[in-house]
Parts: sequence; C-alpha cells; structure tokens
Amino acid sequence: MKQELKDIFYKVYGERQVSYFFSPGRVNLIGEHTDYNGGHVFPSTISLGTYGVVSSNEDMIIRCYSDNYPALGIVEVDLNDLSFSESDEWVNYLKGVIIQFKKKGFELNHGFDLAIKGNIPGGGLSSSASLELLVCVMLRKVYGFDLDMLEMVKMSRAVENEYIGVNCGIMDQFIIGMGKKDHAILLDTNTLNYKHVPLELGDYVILIGNTNKKRTLADSKYNERFSECQTALKMMQEKLDISSLGDMSIECFEENAGAITDGVLLKRARHAVYENQRTLKSYDALMAGDLIEFGRLMNESHESLKEDYEVSCKELDTMVYAMREQEGVIGSRMTGAGFGGCTVSLVKKDSVDKVISVVSEIYENEIGYKGDFHGVEIGNGAGELEA
Ligand code: GLA
Repeated sequence: MKQELKDIFYKVYGERQVSYFFSPGRVNLIGEHTDYNGGHVFPSTISLGTYGVVSSNEDMIIRCYSDNYPALGIVEVDLNDLSFSESDEWVNYLKGVIIQFKKKGFELNHGFDLAIKGNIPGGGLSSSASLELLVCVMLRKVYGFDLDMLEMVKMSRAVENEYIGVNCGIMDQFIIGMGKKDHAILLDTNTLNYKHVPLELGDYVILIGNTNKKRTLADSKYNERFSECQTALKMMQEKLDISSLGDMSIECFEENAGAITDGVLLKRARHAVYENQRTLKSYDALMAGDLIEFGRLMNESHESLKEDYEVSCKELDTMVYAMREQEGVIGSRMTGAGFGGCTVSLVKKDSVDKVISVVSEIYENEIGYKGDFHGVEIGNGAGELEA
C-alpha cells in the first residue's frame, strides 16, 4: 500500500520527502447506541482504514487529494478560512479537526500537501472517525504538537458534534485512537474507563457483512434518536438521581418505567438500558469462554435495535436472518448506527466460505444487489507508518 500511496502523492504533487500514516475503521461487537447514553461499548479496530501521505509546504495552504474522489481533484484549504463547504466533501473533516487544534491553542504556521486513500466500505465501519484521527496524528507529527491520543479522540468527536452536526458518542473515535492489536476495548462511556480485551474466539471468527445500503449519519435519524433518549432521561430524572440511562440497572428501569409517559420514548430508553447490561454480560461470557452465550446476546441486541430502537432496515434484517440460518453461525446483528451499513456475525472458521456464498445469494435475490463480506483482523489504533 505504501508504494501505491507514494506513487499517488508523486503523481499529484511531485517527488518530495513524505511521511505515511494509517487510521483504521472499526466494528462494534456489541453495545449499540449506548455511547451517547453513558453506557458500555465493545468495539475493535479492523484492518481496513484510511491511509495518508503528507509533506509540509511553505504556504498557508493545505492541499488535499483523495484517491477515492479523483474527480474532486486537489482541494485547497486556506488556513485562514476553515468554513464548512458542501462541495469540499471529505475535506470538511480535515477543516473541522484543524479548528479543534486551533481551539486548543495549537497554531499552524505553514501548510502541507496531503494525499489519502481509504478502503473502508461506506456506512457502518466509521470511515469518518478514521479520517478524523488520521488528520489528528498527521497534524501532531507535521507540527510537532504535544498532545496525547485521548485528547485527540475527544477533539475528533467534537468535530462531529460541533462542525459536522452529528450528535454521536465517543465510541468510534475512541477505538480508532486507542485500539490495540488483537484486542477489543470494553469502554464505559460515562467514565471513559476502559480495558483492552484479548479477543480469543477459538474456532470462531468475526465476519462483517456490508449491505451496500449507503447512508450518512447526518441524513439519518441518528440525531432524532439522540434527542429521544435525552427526553426520556429527563423524565426519569424527575424521579431518580441519575446522570445517564447507562446508570440504570434493568430492575431499576423496570421499577421506574412509568416515569416515561410516551410509548416511543419508553422503547428507546429500554433499548439503551438493556443494551448496556447486555454488553457487560457479553464481556463476562467472553471471559468465561462461552461464545454461544456471546452469540445469543448479539442476536438479542439486533432484535432490540430493530424493535425498540428502530434503526434497522430491510437490508440489515435480510442479511442478519440469512446469516443466522446457516450452520456455524452463532450470532449475528447490525453494527454501527444502522439504517444501512454493516452486520457483524460470529462464524465458525471452517464454515466461513460456505456461509458467505449462501448468504450472498439469498441477499442478492431478496434485495436486488450484492452485499460484501470481510474477515476481521484487529490492528493498532491510528498512527504513523514506518517510512
Ligand atoms: C455511530 C456513532 C457512534 C455510536 C454508533 C451506534 O457509529 O458515531 O458514536 O453511537 O453509531 O452505536
């Protein structure tokens, strides 16, 4: 990949001394729509991600080229004008990150030339958080800024919340920044306490299925779910001293459910509370080596996201249910925000090829276009690649 990136950079900007960076995508094993509700999440990085090649320049201009958007050509960002512009597409994420650095008092006193290439399929595997953290690690290196990864994780989330307009939680940025080879992370989004958990799956592997149903979070009902949970929390707070839905046990929720007077809001809150507890149980199951239980909890998570949280869709359901019918599949659910995007399944190693071929066929017959499948390798979080 590095040779390819170098060729792209040289073609666009000419031959120069360059540095290389990589930022992964992520898959969430379980704990969905819990991260902005003060709950737990259990994601890992994936080997697909975003690559960047960069070299300083002497101007006050950042030149941006993406091999994924060749028609966009080189987009020039004036360091004195970082306003959002629809037509700048992916470059807006870079502008949003720079604004965060400036807010922290880090000044960029010259520009740089950048070429990127990503191989994360769109929707559900966090291509935007991958890009945000890529820009963070590049800026830190190019300008020699002194700040730690956790700070950059928080700044990247702020880009989404303040600049892009998505009220997301911190899961994606956290795992992409803090990820560790062969480990998932169990993260308490309330306290940001976390554990790197070795992902030992024995005879099983994680299989991602991409529905190829595209969506962006900005045009989905993501922010609506966020506000619904905020309202449900406020209703609970009339009765209870809690700071998030993640503070509640199932018993506490059931005892006080009457405080939420709207049926839809009650369903949203129920998902947030049960999914948080399910995530903790999944961790216990994994630690006990009980993968069957882990898979069962994944299935339960999907039902809750479909029925109570209503963020699944025909494409995700079709793929998930086709998966579950196959021998060797012990759990399958949607992953990420939903409304399209990807599924994640726990599949017996020696069944993977057969499962992919049968599920591909069922999916295409039912939906009318193909899905894609990817095995998961877990690498480190975002950083510089050796030259
Ligand atoms: C998106 C958001 C995350 C999280 C998931 C749903 O990926 O960026 O913060 O809320 O959806 O679990």
